[in-house]
Amino acid sequence: MRTTRLPYVTFHEEPAEAEVVSHRLMLRGSYVKKVAGGLYDFLPLGARVLRRIESIIREEMDRAGAFEVLMPALQPAELWQATDRWDKYGKELFRIQDRHDRSFALGPTHEEVVTDLARGLLRSYRQLPVTLYQIQTKFRDEMRPRFGLMRGREFVMKDAYSFARSGEEGAACYREMQEAYFRIFSRLGLSVRMVEADTGMIGGSSSHEFMVLAPSGEDTVVFCPSCSWASNIELAGEATRCPLCQERLERTTAIEVGHVFDLGQRYSQPMEAGFLDPDGRETLFHMGCYGIGVSRLLAAAIEQSHDDGGIIWPLAMAPWAVCVLPLGGKDQEMTARGERIAAIIEERFPGEVLIDDREARPGVKFADADLCGFPLQVILGERNLREDRVELKVRKTGERHLLPVSGLPEWIGDFLGRPGSMVDTLILDR
Ligand SMILES: Nc1ncnc2c1ncn2[C@@H]1O[C@H](COP(=O)(O)OP(=O)(O)O)[C@@H](O)[C@H]1O
Ligand SMILES: [Mg+2]
Ligand SMILES: [Zn+2]
Repeated sequence: MRTTRLPYVTFHEEPAEAEVVSHRLMLRGSYVKKVAGGLYDFLPLGARVLRRIESIIREEMDRAGAFEVLMPALQPAELWQATDRWDKYGKELFRIQDRHDRSFALGPTHEEVVTDLARGLLRSYRQLPVTLYQIQTKFRDEMRPRFGLMRGREFVMKDAYSFARSGEEGAACYREMQEAYFRIFSRLGLSVRMVEADTGMIGGSSSHEFMVLAPSGEDTVVFCPSCSWASNIELAGEATRCPLCQERLERTTAIEVGHVFDLGQRYSQPMEAGFLDPDGRETLFHMGCYGIGVSRLLAAAIEQSHDDGGIIWPLAMAPWAVCVLPLGGKDQEMTARGERIAAIIEERFPGEVLIDDREARPGVKFADADLCGFPLQVILGERNLREDRVELKVRKTGERHLLPVSGLPEWIGDFLGRPGSMVDTLILDR
């Protein structure tokens, strides 16, 4: 992909309305554009990051044996009335009426809809346990939508729901999802803490939140610096020592990126959702629900990883891992060489390379590449190219390497952690 074809406009002044660094950098780097309070366009760069996050989540949900579904965002009021949440959910629930004056909610979450789906679909104990998930737009009329993608009125969530025969089987589903969450966040390059949490409006018996520790977070967690123990502030109460290792506890602000709940029969009971057990008795589902704030993850990643120059994307999230920067101004020959080099990288690592083919000064290209946060910059200068060399800059560490052009694919393969270089050698050997 080339920047002259990419509809983006970066800017280097601080946007006035943005209070947190992730919001500022996403606006400046052309990742998102504000439409109205809590509503954003994802521009091409932002949409690519969103898709990358989604595909890692899909892979790990599938690996955990969950099945993808897609439920409507528009939900009939009757389902919400059956669980009493039509009244209890409060003003955060967007309510609308159709032309026949029937009431609907724009889904902030899908417990009712999925329970209604399961009671028709899962009739026998032989079909259980089952976990269903979707990646979908959610709507919440937040009192204070703010911090860009962090707290929107419309946002992308991965929500999963498990249906089990018993509390024990439900607990196993819950643990499987917790493990999947650790894999997802680690593949995304995020450092998270899992904390015990309150069950809130969703209800149920036990619950854990996954927190990205960051100064701008709206939540506070109490954590142990020596082991993995951590808790949400409400549950930790006055405790000052870690219950596992007696170490002094510390507290810090954090961003909630995931939340898992053991729901028990909170929804299956009022909705009379169950299955036939081996003795032919009608039995209620034991349920769990599991959310990840997909669009919030862009913001959380930037809060955790940036510097004065801009965003520093974890490798797995970057819109493109590699940005090729030919520094020739209007020099056609230089741009052509840049394109050949970009094509070589693209062939080995499809979808991972962007070339900055604008007729811009080197300073402008460097500043934009830093701002947008591409993990690796391949810098093509006149003098180095005469000796068939390119310069590489690693965005995260600032380290620079001078390489022969021929060594580029292997070096990038190592950098991306892909076995591409091995395959290349085999082909060359033949
Ligand atoms: N308004 C919002 N904007 C962006 N992401 C949100 C918003 N509300 C919730 N999320 C994300 O969705 C996940 C699951 O939602 P949930 O736990 O029901 O939200 P909450 O804790 O705000 O009630 C949260 O962990 C969070 O990452
Ligand atoms: Mg939550
Ligand atoms: Zn401890």
